[in-house]
Amino acid sequence: MKTLIVSYLPGGSYSNTKQLFDHILGELKNTEVEHLNLLETSPDFFNNESIMAYYSRNYQGKELNQAQKDSLKKMDLFANQVSEADLVVMVYPMYNFGMPGIVKTWFDGVMQAGVAFEYGPNGPVGLFKNKKALVLFTSGGSYSEKKYSGKYPDWDTISLLSEIEFSFMGFSDVEVVSASTSDSGKKQQNIDLAKQKASEILKGWGV
Ligand SMILES: Cc1cc2nc3c(=O)[nH]c(=O)nc-3n(C[C@H](O)[C@H](O)[C@H](O)COP(=O)(O)O)c2cc1C
Repeated sequence: MKTLIVSYLPGGSYSNTKQLFDHILGELKNTEVEHLNLLETSPDFFNNESIMAYYSRNYQGKELNQAQKDSLKKMDLFANQVSEADLVVMVYPMYNFGMPGIVKTWFDGVMQAGVAFEYGPNGPVGLFKNKKALVLFTSGGSYSEKKYSGKYPDWDTISLLSEIEFSFMGFSDVEVVSASTSDSGKKQQNIDLAKQKASEILKGWGV
């Protein structure tokens, strides 16, 4: 079994979310682990050259020249890493009610037509079968308890988008675990609870 752990922890040793990263790494003893640190290997935004190369290759089946191939190299690396993994674990903080832009850009590289999904007679079909995803994040606010008025609990777009992206690619299981960090009195308790929940999910998956 192989696990790909994708992290974005710009806070370094001061990061709240790093506690979840360290914990989950310790739990992944019975699996081969590949770590993609997005701070070291950052995804590129599509530019004109790379989007045209992507259309040509992934939608029109055309051969690319070397420069075009190079423009897709990083996203191909990311897609390949996911393709080879049985479990994908993502760890990062919430920014502005969602995943940080760099994490979304990683998805934009991985979710390639003909690689992660294809179009069948009944619409798009995910091609990454028998894979599971576990997403761990911390946020200032709490999005798991309905203690805020209005629609506040719904403002966590990480859970929604993670479910959509991984399910679209064919993943069979997607779990999201979060911890609220703004209340300093409860921060450690919330993080410890998230660690426990993440461990239980891995156990349930036989990892
Ligand atoms: C740029 C930025 C945007 C943030 N946006 C939100 C947000 O929309 N909602 C929220 O609850 N917390 C938000 N936070 C708080 C962080 O998610 C929270 O402090 C988290 O625990 C930070 O994780 P880290 O210590 O691993 O960096 C934001 C923090 C930063 C730096």
